[in-house]
This record gives sequence, C-alpha cells and structure tokens, in this order.
Amino acid sequence: MESLDDAGVYKLSDDLAVIQTIDFFTPIVDDPYDFGQIAVANALSDIYAMGGRALTAMNIVCFPAKSLDISVLKEILRGGIDKMREAEVTLIGGHSIEDAELKYGLSVTGTAHPKHLVTNSGARVGDKLILTKPLGTGIISTALKANAASKETIAKVTGYMASLNKKASELMQETGVHACTDVTGFGFLGHASQLARNSNAGIKVHSGSIPFFTEAPDFARQGLCPGGLHRNREFYGKLVEFSSQVPENMKDVLFDPQTSGGLLVALPPDRAQLLMEKLKEAGIAEAAIVGEILESPAGKIIVE
Ligand code: CO
Ligand code: CO
Ligand code: CO
Repeated sequence: MESLDDAGVYKLSDDLAVIQTIDFFTPIVDDPYDFGQIAVANALSDIYAMGGRALTAMNIVCFPAKSLDISVLKEILRGGIDKMREAEVTLIGGHSIEDAELKYGLSVTGTAHPKHLVTNSGARVGDKLILTKPLGTGIISTALKANAASKETIAKVTGYMASLNKKASELMQETGVHACTDVTGFGFLGHASQLARNSNAGIKVHSGSIPFFTEAPDFARQGLCPGGLHRNREFYGKLVEFSSQVPENMKDVLFDPQTSGGLLVALPPDRAQLLMEKLKEAGIAEAAIVGEILESPAGKIIVE
C-alpha cells in the first residue's frame, strides 16, 4: 500500500496472482446511463494499469430513494452492465444502501501472472512516457456543474471517460513495458511523481506534447477548477519544477484530478515508437509521448 499502486495483488501460486480494486464516487455527469458507464470504466482501469485481466465485479450503490426516482438507479446500473459486457467482465453481486448522496462504483477482481505484473515502480532511465487520454476532465466537470460547458464538450469528455483502458493495456503488455499507472484523482503530475518516486528516478515532461481538452485551459482561466486541483497543486507542487514558458492554466491542467483518465506508461524509446503505432492503429488517437525518465532529480518532475 505504501507505493500507492493502482490495485492490491495477492499471489495464489507461482503462475497466478489475484488483483483487487474498488472505486466509487458521486455523479460527474447529468445523464445516469453515462454515469454508470464512466463509473465502470474508471473502476476497471486500475486492473488494466497493473497489466491484469478484469474478470468479475460487484456493484456498490448508495441511493437517495426518498428524493430520487428508482428509474435513475436503473439507468445507472444499465450503463454499468453494458460497460461490463463490453469489457467481458461478469457482475456477480453487490450491495446497496440508502444514502443522502448518490454514489456508484465497483469492486473488481482480476488476475495476472505474478511475473507479468506492471507496477508504478519499474521505470528506468531513458524510458519514454506515453499518456493515452487527454487531460482536463476535472475542470470540465466543474464547468458542467456551473452550466458553463456546451453539450458538445460534455459529450466529447463523457466519451473519453467512458472509454475502457483495456485495449491500451493489452497493447502495452504485448509491446513490453517497464511501468504503468492510470491518471486519476492525483492528476497527471501527482501520478507521475508517484511513478518517479517509486522508480527512484526523475521525469521530464514536455508540456507542448500533453494531450488535453482544448476547453480546459479556458475554463481554468475563468476559475472553474475543482477543489482537488488545488489540493494536488499544494501536495505535489513542491516536487515539480516548471520552466517559465509553461502558462499558468496549463499547470492547472497538469494538476487537474481525472476521472477515468488514461494510462501513463514508461518503456524504452524503440518500444515507445512501436506502442504509439499500435495505439494509433487501435483508434487511441490522442495518445502521445509526453516525457522521459531521467536519472535526476530523483523523485522530481521538470516540466518544460
Ligand atoms: Co489507479
Ligand atoms: Co482506484
Ligand atoms: Co451478506
């Protein structure tokens, strides 16, 4: 647990490890079906980040039955089931309680070969870093709550949050990687700094190569930043050195907490090129090489 890795792993035998993770949260989009899809894609992601195969899941539901119609819950669960079907994950149970605030998510069980686990601690000097989804979901969800985001923007970001990291995970395993984590609540720089610390290495980030939703920096400039963004900046800011040309609202994007964000993968340069080709071929169009692993400053990140 100390390494803040994506999921818990228990070795059952020399060739089989079980991987467990749990994730649930309050709605970040208005449409209940979409929320169900996003919650499932988000919960499964930690298994994919570990290089595992997700097998079974259990629903976790907190529902305000006195104030919301039960049809809302049905739509959330329908979205969830459809996403599990797409991921070839079997729903085997769950638990629901009445709660003042709606929450939904999953506990997920997966497997991997113990030797083929991908952790957030194996990055090596010279490795390239690939990010597979654009940043900015936290800022745009905040804009959504403030009624500042257009329908088109919401639809676009929802599509990314609801998309599984399954294919990207399969491709990275096929290519061979040193380390991986998924970008979620601690933001790109938070998760990158955990990877740096656990790998006892430094990271250089090319801010100009970072994929992001173009609306996000504009919303950030208007102050539409989630509370988690400020907490991430406060906590991880001391580990990050920004060059003077990185704009303030791009820093916001880099600290923005993500829901169902992309995989952040470290691998040698020649394999990074190969993985980029495979990702593009698979339609993961926004994937980009965003930085590299340095020997020093260990545990720190330089953003240019
Ligand atoms: Co994770
Ligand atoms: Co998680
Ligand atoms: Co029971």
